Amino acid sequence: MEGIFRRCSVRLFEDKPVEEGRLRRVLEAAIRAPNAMGLEQWFFIVVKRGDVVKRIWEIIRDAHLFYYERARKKELKREQVKKLLRKFDEGLYLAPVYVVAYLDERRRGLKEEFSDVEFLWGVESVAAAVENMMVAAAAMGLGTCWIGVVNFMEDKINRLLNPPDGCKLIAVVPVGYPKEEVKPRPRKDLEDICSLV
Ligand SMILES: Cc1cc2nc3c(=O)[nH]c(=O)nc-3n(C[C@H](O)[C@H](O)[C@H](O)COP(=O)(O)O)c2cc1C
Repeated sequence: MEGIFRRCSVRLFEDKPVEEGRLRRVLEAAIRAPNAMGLEQWFFIVVKRGDVVKRIWEIIRDAHLFYYERARKKELKREQVKKLLRKFDEGLYLAPVYVVAYLDERRRGLKEEFSDVEFLWGVESVAAAVENMMVAAAAMGLGTCWIGVVNFMEDKINRLLNPPDGCKLIAVVPVGYPKEEVKPRPRKDLEDICSLV
């Protein structure tokens, strides 16, 4: 429970490695997630090598720019883009480790005619694993952030990491020690997003 209530998105990290044992525990937590048909349709690539870390970070930067300038309904103003780039220069999203989460579509459990449900269940299973990972990390004092904008640049990520055929990119998760204290962000009141029948 503590991890759940402590977790929040961390986007600035200390230049300090994550201990092997902790990283392993985070991944062990990931694969404890419920998963459709018990198929464990996930695949993780853990990136620690300096040159690859730098490339992932550059893709994260480009993908955020694409999101803010091209994909989002409400575009950022020039000044806001400049401000964002300055934050990247200060190390925004740069972490000692990136865990790249894939849906392994080679393992299938439904007949072809239900492939849309199969895909949905697969994404949900990997999402549950990613959340487990983030909660476990938070419980150990580590910071994470779900990076979804990389989905706009899936080809670039795949060319760099060369995942097994049939793997679909779900998210990139930076993992590291938070550089500054980040507090859990507010949420809507339960009364506004729940109804009782
Ligand atoms: C599917 C998904 C995609 C996300 N993509 C990004 C992203 O690309 N960049 C980012 O900074 N945060 C991303 N986030 C994090 C959200 O912005 C964040 O969870 C939300 O603002 C709530 O803040 P909190 O995590 O601190 O509670 C993503 C979260 C989810 C679930």
